Amino acid sequence: MSQCPGDDAPPPSADSYDHLVREDRVHTSLYRDAAIFEAEMDRIFNNTWVWVAHASELPGPNTYKSAHVGRQPVLVTRDKEGKVHVLLNRCRHRAATVCENKKGKAPVFVCPYHGWSYNVDGKLRAVPRSEGYSADFDRKDYGLQSLRVEEYQGLIFATFRDDIEPLVDFLGPAKKWIDLFMKQGAGYGVKTMGQHQFRFPGNWKIQLENTTDAYHFPIVHKTFLTSLDEETEELFDVLGQGGWVEELGNGHSVMVMIPDLVDLEENLDAPIPERFQALASELAQDHDDAEVRRIVRAVGGSGFNLNLFPNLACSMAFFRVLRPVAVDETEITHIAIGMDGGPEAGNRARLRLHEHFQGPMGFGSPDDAEGWERVQRGSAAGKDLWILLNRGTETLVGHQAGNHVTDVSAEAGMRAAYQMWKRMMAV
Ligand code: FES
Ligand SMILES: [Fe+2]
Repeated sequence: MSQCPGDDAPPPSADSYDHLVREDRVHTSLYRDAAIFEAEMDRIFNNTWVWVAHASELPGPNTYKSAHVGRQPVLVTRDKEGKVHVLLNRCRHRAATVCENKKGKAPVFVCPYHGWSYNVDGKLRAVPRSEGYSADFDRKDYGLQSLRVEEYQGLIFATFRDDIEPLVDFLGPAKKWIDLFMKQGAGYGVKTMGQHQFRFPGNWKIQLENTTDAYHFPIVHKTFLTSLDEETEELFDVLGQGGWVEELGNGHSVMVMIPDLVDLEENLDAPIPERFQALASELAQDHDDAEVRRIVRAVGGSGFNLNLFPNLACSMAFFRVLRPVAVDETEITHIAIGMDGGPEAGNRARLRLHEHFQGPMGFGSPDDAEGWERVQRGSAAGKDLWILLNRGTETLVGHQAGNHVTDVSAEAGMRAAYQMWKRMMAV
């Protein structure tokens, strides 16, 4: 069988993964090897900051949501004082999950098996028929196990590690892009407005790669492009607008597709696009011209995708969360976001845009998912071949704040993520 340059098979190795990741390619086993997947869950997801919630998903005291850190189920809760907790969703008696709801409000979680009950801060509150336990049984010893939690701009992350850097240091230069992304509140806060979830039969890193993959856009999203008016179709000519990919450290990266929409508080005098004229008229009933322009611009979304290693994408106008389920199965949650307390008409328009691209019947995401599935299927062939990430290694267009900046269709975001993968897998 013919080989491509650099396609020599890696030497076998029991516990080292270095040889599977090169600057410009990764080995196919990263999509297919169950032992590698197990090691990833341990060395990556159990050892770094993992996104679990947006603050608006916990709107008041005693609210909660279910989430995962890697494969471990957790509850994200807000207590009476407003403090957020991330707790292992595992009863300390014999391990049953104490709550199976996606979201809700409750002052206490009662395990359905033998009735142990826990406060929202995780403390064990009561044990039925406690006289059956010995005198040294102390409820304080059996609270739900809690994780370290930190928050930036409403993004809540958790980690099992007490000794890693603070969240703000982990995010580093990505913080600037999170700040820009949150300008979609148009002066209001940002809130989540509902979500949908699906699974695809493929490895989690296939989706991770996709968030900063502009190269696929005009091919995979041809159907989406043909569903747009001419002005919007031009806007989504993502390879033709001078966009870029920027590495942000720690595996994070940003892909700017529409440079004019990086800062939603700039260019507010620009003409209102045709597709938002009706919205602008409706908003004008209750808002002055400056507010209308600010809201309309925010409704259209940010012109970039921010990839936060390992599991969150802030993608134009929504959050995309990935959850590894198995080496060849990944769960994706698309979370629509809007203005917290903002005008109903603006949030309605956001939901319609979200449905148009991301929705289960949308013109965008279902096509992406087909692509991801086919990558996994195709990778069953040629187990010694490599996945190429060498696009745009020569298209460095500069540096910003010391970060590499490349052409928009370069695979620089993926290279950055895999270098972080390699670093973490070596630990
Ligand atoms: S497993 Fe929860 S009370 Fe027994
Ligand atoms: Fe896509």
